[in-house]
Amino acid sequence: NAEECIESTVLYDGPHPELAAKLEKEILETNPGVKWDDIAGLSEAKRILQEVMVLPLLMPEYFQGIRRPQRGVLIFGPSGTGKTLLAKVVATECGTTFLNISCSSLCGDCYGESERLTQCLFEIARTHAPTTIFIDEIDYLCSSKGSATEHEASRRVKAELIVQIDGLNNSNKMVTVLAATNFPQSLDEALRRRLKKRIYIPLPDFKSRKELIKINLKSIKLAPGVNIDQVARRTEGYSGDDLTKVCRDASFNGMRLKISGKTTEEIKNISKSEILNISITMDDFLEALDKIKPTVSATDIQRYEKWLLEFGSS
Ligand SMILES: Nc1ncnc2c1ncn2[C@@H]1O[C@H](COP(=O)(O)OP(=O)(O)OP(=O)(O)O)[C@@H](O)[C@H]1O
Ligand SMILES: [Mg+2]
Repeated sequence: NAEECIESTVLYDGPHPELAAKLEKEILETNPGVKWDDIAGLSEAKRILQEVMVLPLLMPEYFQGIRRPQRGVLIFGPSGTGKTLLAKVVATECGTTFLNISCSSLCGDCYGESERLTQCLFEIARTHAPTTIFIDEIDYLCSSKGSATEHEASRRVKAELIVQIDGLNNSNKMVTVLAATNFPQSLDEALRRRLKKRIYIPLPDFKSRKELIKINLKSIKLAPGVNIDQVARRTEGYSGDDLTKVCRDASFNGMRLKISGKTTEEIKNISKSEILNISITMDDFLEALDKIKPTVSATDIQRYEKWLLEFGSS
């Protein structure tokens, strides 16, 4: 939302206006327009997020003292299960300023810049409170990949992040840090302790898979005989993203059949209504299922569940 960005440049009156301007360029889309209903399943995660992010805004008097809301929230789970999507819903539905920042844009090149950028981010957040700072793939800050200077920069961002989250706990400005990761195991203890609310985003169960198929095929015609229950049963172990790929692939199949063997000229002559009327058949699904296999392994899942047992919270 470009207008908001410009406005916030004006509002910022901290000590580093040039860094604030740089950061605001990096802060990504602020209103992605994803609704609660666009997410299949995950009702527990939705409930917890509402409780942490929305209720304290609605009844601040209640959320005092021991009921003080958690300022650090972690969503974790296998790839393609809707973590980033959930954050986008928070952005759209929670009515807070949403700052979507990537770890790499907090890592500065020169000495001390990483700390200043991180401080600056929180200054911007406080200016616009209530604010959600979303940090996707937060494990990046703890990984030792990349060059030595990169590693050093992310270590500094992490240290400053910890200081800043501690600061939030002593302030009555409503700023929440929402972080997401596929590698919760790589977070160190210090960072983990600041992300007190930890929400597991598992692979979709049967009911959620059915819901997800319906969401994906909202605008598409189904041929008689399409059995969504059967597709949902056959996709045990698929992530939401895998399942979306299956639906997408199946939805193209009718078109593929229609144009196969035709010349470009012949394809041009197919009428629009004929194309739009192609419906998805059960065979399309079965073909797609043969092609697209689940990307998350059972060992991966075990690893998440083990971490959940040890460090999870609800
Ligand atoms: N529960 C869900 N409801 C609706 N769509 C979903 C769901 N889970 C996954 N998807 C689909 O999968 C795509 C990828 O989801 P998303 O990017 O949120 O995954 P992620 O958990 O952030 O993955 P990664 O850990 O790899 O970043 C979404 O754009 C959406 O199409
Ligand atoms: Mg993601």
